[in-house]
Amino acid sequence: MSRSTNGWAVIVSCMAFGLSGCGEEPPLRPMESLPTLTYPVRSDWLVLETPKVAPTKPYAKSYAPLLGLTPDATNADADQLALLNEAKLRRLVYTKNMSNSDKTDLFHALTERFGTPSAPKVAPLEPEVQQLATDLRLDSTALAAGARLYRNYCQHCHGMTGAGDGPGGKWLVPPPRDYRQGIFKFTTTDALAGANSFKPRRADLVKTIRVGLPGSGMPSFASLSESDLDLLAGYVTHLSIRGESEYLTLKTLLNPDDFLDDPSGPDAKKYRNAIDMAVTTNLNKILHEWHKAEQSPIEVEPDTCTTYEKRLESAANGYKIYMDAQLGGCGACHVNYGRNAVPTYDVWSTVVRPRDLTQGVFRVTREPASLYKRIYAGVKASGMPEFHTTLRTPSEEKVKGRNRIWDVVHFVEALSNPQMKADLAEKYQIEIDQ
Ligand code: HEC
Ligand code: HEC
Repeated sequence: MSRSTNGWAVIVSCMAFGLSGCGEEPPLRPMESLPTLTYPVRSDWLVLETPKVAPTKPYAKSYAPLLGLTPDATNADADQLALLNEAKLRRLVYTKNMSNSDKTDLFHALTERFGTPSAPKVAPLEPEVQQLATDLRLDSTALAAGARLYRNYCQHCHGMTGAGDGPGGKWLVPPPRDYRQGIFKFTTTDALAGANSFKPRRADLVKTIRVGLPGSGMPSFASLSESDLDLLAGYVTHLSIRGESEYLTLKTLLNPDDFLDDPSGPDAKKYRNAIDMAVTTNLNKILHEWHKAEQSPIEVEPDTCTTYEKRLESAANGYKIYMDAQLGGCGACHVNYGRNAVPTYDVWSTVVRPRDLTQGVFRVTREPASLYKRIYAGVKASGMPEFHTTLRTPSEEKVKGRNRIWDVVHFVEALSNPQMKADLAEKYQIEIDQ
């Protein structure tokens, strides 16, 4: 029957029976009118360990040795050959060569727990783990709303799965964050409270999205409402948990000796297959980590330097700590205060460079409390260590109102403050710009 005849049939039956609802638009069925997108299983490099080699070229835009590299590349440059050698040592593994049946099983297991881009979810198996997802506000309605915003504002840089491989961001240095290792750089999560400081707290994600990361390609989204920022943070969390479940499962899958102690044990029956079980176990572990991070904020000790003179004296103390190889040792990486720092690889095998501290541009703003947390927690993904223990203030200094981390913060502030630099030179004979 043609469409128009069908239409007539409806009108005729309406007239005949006076059915309610006649004349209304047919309900939209968005799931069917849009192509049914699913998250693909990854087929790129899995970085298991930060490469032990360093890039040789200067730090510049478009310099991404791992991007587009394949194990059989014939035109690889020196840095790429060094990375291929790292792959021989299994620090990097190429996932494209996985068997089709493993890929299919992984796809089904991940889709069952995490849904699709238009219907995302975080659905662990056990109710007590579900409670963690509820506490983290990862319910499917909020995630679907966050996903819509993400497609609008973020996907062209961060990619559909959060791999950081969107067309708008591919050549940025540093590249857009790949969320799939479950690792973030600018967290305020306290490792001393037993939390995994790679995991951000919700407030960290919201702040990053609101203010952006100055000095990188990550823009500010300050014009979005607080509730949109929060929905976006929730969806980034979903992508990260999904990505890390996949990452950890692949890590064991590609190393079959580690895979499941007893795949035929009694528990295995509950699951469709071993991959399914691995995804579920990894999801549980990761949810616990996010939950713990949320409850473990770094407490910033009060800054006792209330006057300029005190801040300057503290900065002079900070200089000594900065220079002392046993304490700060900052200059080993921030060569010439970062002006001559050399690039290295980070945990994603992408290129980073220790910050030029004389520029006064910091990713998470230059608010003193932000810098305090950065030095306390480090930027471990980029190789900058955490200083919460090395720079703990001995009690004999504490009673005098001193705090070693604050000393370093004041020195870092001075490095881009002409007045403070001049006064450090005059009063304390500390020359920065010689
Ligand atoms: C123009 C490209 C671009 C767009 C658009 C973009 N980002 Fe980013 N984003 C980046 C870059 C580049 C970085 C990495 C900066 C770095 O490593 O210093 C980043 C990093 C991040 C991080 C990681 C912070 C951390 O602590 O590790 C988060 C979270 C993030 N972006 C979320 C978002 C969200 C959400 C959106 C959309 C509202 C978005 N980004 C849009 C480029 C972009
Ligand atoms: C092992 C190398 C290393 C050491 C040691 C190190 N850093 Fe860093 N630092 C880095 C790298 C790499 C980055 C860039 C991180 C990024 O953006 O990915 C960085 C970034 C920073 C930033 C910028 C944070 C931001 O929000 O943008 C500050 C501030 C900083 N370091 C201060 C210090 C101080 C102070 C010390 C000594 C107490 C120190 N660093 C020791 C490698 C190091």
